[in-house]
Amino acid sequence: MPAVVIVGAQWGDEGKGKVVDLYAEAADMVVRYAGGPNAGHTLVVGNETVVVRLIPSGILRAQTRCVMAQGMVVDPAVLVGEIAALEARGHTIDGRLFVSDRAHVILPYHPLIDGLREGAADAASRIGTTKRGIGPCYEDKAARRGLRVGDLADPAHARAILERALAAWRPVILDLGGVVPDAGRILDELAPLAARLRPLVADTSALVEGALKAGHKVLLEGAQGTLLDLDHGTYPFVTSSSAVSGGACSGVGIGPTRIRRVVGLSKAYCTRVGEGPFPTELHDAVGERIRAIGHEFGSVTKRPRRTGWIDLPALRFSARVNGLDGIALTKLDVLTGLDAVSACVAYDTPSGRTREFPIDALATATPVYQSFPGWSEDLAAARSIAELPAAARAYLRFLEEQIEVPVDIVSVGARRDETITLRDAFA
Ligand code: GDP
Ligand code: IMO
Ligand code: MG
Repeated sequence: MPAVVIVGAQWGDEGKGKVVDLYAEAADMVVRYAGGPNAGHTLVVGNETVVVRLIPSGILRAQTRCVMAQGMVVDPAVLVGEIAALEARGHTIDGRLFVSDRAHVILPYHPLIDGLREGAADAASRIGTTKRGIGPCYEDKAARRGLRVGDLADPAHARAILERALAAWRPVILDLGGVVPDAGRILDELAPLAARLRPLVADTSALVEGALKAGHKVLLEGAQGTLLDLDHGTYPFVTSSSAVSGGACSGVGIGPTRIRRVVGLSKAYCTRVGEGPFPTELHDAVGERIRAIGHEFGSVTKRPRRTGWIDLPALRFSARVNGLDGIALTKLDVLTGLDAVSACVAYDTPSGRTREFPIDALATATPVYQSFPGWSEDLAAARSIAELPAAARAYLRFLEEQIEVPVDIVSVGARRDETITLRDAFA
């Protein structure tokens, strides 16, 4: 059974946690392929709300094995904390959760540097990172001096790697006015964390390939979103990993031939957290209302998310770079009660009107909107398209036509059952 990729099609927080948890009912394995504790994926089950940052969103499904693949960056303290919190809620972790020996380790100096840099940056160059050390950790990986999860098994080897990396960062930390942490102390703090994680460490590429060969259903869970991707996003206001669907292959260690379907997630509107261009951003009462009703505050950082209308050129761009087969449209319920709903359909640029997303010229591009009548009915109980009000149906149909990708599911609330399923991703 080939794998299905779930990828954010906007700037993150599209509802990947909800959709992966939903699809995980039928999945044998959920594999997260990129990012680290910059992510916050929310799972709402009954009265329980769980936010996972590193652990895949299939973890609440007892029959599902969860894999943290080598494209991820892992903060051992965050991971051990997440494991303990899930165990305290009665979930079994050992034997179900696996961590790649090749995933890179976020060390205490990574968030330190991330925070110092953000503090020192001027308004024009600040990224608005989550300050979780993501950028510096991937920098160590690219500089070929990173510490990997598998290295933790050999303390002397780990010390040598750590000392080399710290030597490289020392002038940077000092220049930013920071205090260079002590390698011995970092290793002492790591030791008990490494001991807790040791039974989970595996060659996850082989594990996933084995599951696929055995005919198991495998979900590949993205983090962040396409417009935050290091290669394809609104550079430099991006994260430092490969968030797009292609990142699932290198991030997991499987070939593109193993992927059957790519499902892109989009809200029925759009949000962004952090700095960077967001042409359809609303700075008015409608934007405030969407933030309030949609609870648009970071799952982890609690920062208010910027809100705006859906950007169809951006979603067509996303459909292209991810090869989207289906769309999961989330948070349609949040638009209830608006007199009118708008969608960006094109851009006016100095060289004329375009349906393309002018990703490298957003500063000089003006969104062109099409407006639709709103609806006032509560959508949370709808389980079929026919149960949606006519205005919501018309909006949905328009989005589907414009993105040129079929809608697989429509989410009308945070809970598992608040979903209209049009297609089984594994069918
Ligand atoms: P992720 O990072 O993509 O997993 O998304 P987050 O969990 O950071 O943010 C999505 C938020 O929207 C979470 O609070 C979810 O519980 C919530 N959510 C997901 N789908 C829906 C939906 O269809 N309607 C509403 N109202 N909330 C939703
Ligand atoms: P999930 O998986 C939304 C944003 C940050 C910042 C930029 C770089 O929950 O959708 P980083 O800390 O990665 O160096 O920050 O990326 N960002 C996210 N925004 N959702 C996320 O994850 C994000 N992860 C990073 O706000 O703009
Ligand atoms: Mg999130």
